[in-house]
Parts: sequence; C-alpha cells; structure tokens
Amino acid sequence: MEPSSTRYTGTAIALHWLIALLLLGQFAFGLTLEDIPRGTPARGYYVNLHKSSGILIGLLILLRLGWRLTHRPPPLPRTTPRWQRRAAKFSHIALYVCMLALPLSGYLASNFSRHGIKFFNLVRWAPWGPDDKALYAFFNGAHHLFALLLALLVAIHVLAVAKHMLIDHDGLLLRMWPRRRGPLARAPSNLPMENR
Ligand code: HEM
Ligand code: HEM
Repeated sequence: MEPSSTRYTGTAIALHWLIALLLLGQFAFGLTLEDIPRGTPARGYYVNLHKSSGILIGLLILLRLGWRLTHRPPPLPRTTPRWQRRAAKFSHIALYVCMLALPLSGYLASNFSRHGIKFFNLVRWAPWGPDDKALYAFFNGAHHLFALLLALLVAIHVLAVAKHMLIDHDGLLLRMWPRRRGPLARAPSNLPMENR
C-alpha cells in the first residue's frame, strides 16, 4: 500500500506560515492603533489600513479553512497518546475559530459605525448597518477578546511544539516545515517519528 505522507501538503504549509506572519504583524498593528489619538486624521488613516489588511488576511484564512476541510492532515504517529490527539484537535479548532472570529468581529463592528471602511484609504465602503454604539461596542469588545484569546492559544501552540522538539525529540515541527528532498520527504506514518 502507498505510505501516507507524514507532512502537511505544501499549500497547507505555505498558508500556515504566511498567515502566522501576517497575523503577528496585524496584531502588532492593532496594538499600535491604541497609541494614535482618537479624532485625528492619522487615526482614521491607520485604522482604515488595519481594517483593509485585516479583511485581506480574513480572506486568506477562509481559503486556508477551505483547503483544510477538503484535505486530510497527515495522521499522527500511532504512538501518540489519546489525550494528546484530543488536545491537538481541540486547540487547532480553537485556533481556527479565533482566526475567523477576529476579522469577522472587526468587520461587523465597522459596519455598526458611521465610519464604515475606507478600503486602503481609496474606496469608501458605506456601512450596511446603522450607527449603533451598543452594537459597535459589542463587536469591538469581541474583537479585543478574540485578539487576546488568539495570543494565548498561539503561545500554548508554540510551547507544545517546543515540548515535542526539545523534550520528546519527535520532530513534530517537520510536519509543518517546507519539504526537503530526500528520505524524510515521505515515510511510513506507522513508525514512531524518531525512526523515520
Ligand atoms: C485579521 C486579523 C486581525 C487582527 C489580528 C486584529 C488585531 C487587532 C488588535 C490586537 C487590536 C487592538 C486591540 C483592540 O482594541 O481590540 C485591534 C483593533 C482594531 N481592529 Fe483589528 N485585527 C484584525 C482584523 C480587523 C478587521 C478585519 C477589522 C475591520 C474591518 C479590524 C478593526 C479594528 C478596529 C476598528 C480596531 C480599533 C478598536 C479601537 O481602538 O477601538 N480589525 N485589532
Ligand atoms: C499566529 C500564529 C499561528 C497560528 C494561528 C497557527 C495555527 C495552526 C493551526 C490552526 C494548525 C493546525 C493545522 C491544521 O490541521 O489545519 C497548526 C499546526 C502546526 N503549527 Fe501552527 N500556528 C501558528 C504559529 C506557529 C509557530 C510559531 C509554530 C512553530 C513553533 C507552529 C508550528 C506548528 C506545527 C508544527 C503544526 C503541526 C502540528 C501537528 O502536526 O499536529 N505554528 N498551526
């Protein structure tokens, strides 16, 4: 039987790292917005840039989710304990939920404010919702909360990968690392990782 791959597909890997980098930048961008005084032209300019890049990142996240739902991830090694399988599944779902909820909550908040979105400060998208302070505050609060939650989940995610690499020495990171030529590229998935 053809052995199944032990790595994510090239597309999944490219999307994972591209989106991770973009989210990191967008997160820092969001935090610096707090330092720009409200009511100034600079604030409107940078908030609209943040909204516009956030929408593009959101579309990329949708593409990634579509890819994920139509492509099976590589199976975990047979030796992976059940609790770890569950923890990985749960944390990956939570990461996807936050990745979707962040741009969505930002987009919804923007449409319950008279400012709407000026896409890259060039094209004005009139808000489709009423100028409603309570709804704006709700979705803005959700945006804030999901940003914090994503940061927390990513920290746990990175610690889990570090544990696999530095304590278990099972090479987990290679599953999400760009493919190298040679015997590591394809190997039977029923072997413990250290034997591959
Ligand atoms: C794609 C990922 C995104 C990330 C990681 C992100 C992250 C952040 C962060 C960390 C903040 C500062 C904390 C806060 O006040 O919540 C922020 C603020 C903000 N974000 Fe985003 N954001 C994203 C997408 C969007 C989108 C798509 C929109 C709107 C279309 C948006 C609109 C806003 C607005 C208006 C603020 C300022 C809120 C305020 O200061 O009252 N964001 N964002
Ligand atoms: C914003 C930052 C990040 C986000 C949102 C993120 C999100 C995700 C998600 C959702 C998955 C599951 C993939 C799937 O099954 O579709 C995943 C897998 C993975 N990520 Fe990240 N990630 C981030 C940063 C990182 C970093 C910095 C590392 C390295 C330390 C990393 C290493 C991995 C590895 C090795 C896997 C595969 C895990 C496995 O085989 O089960 N990620 N990531």
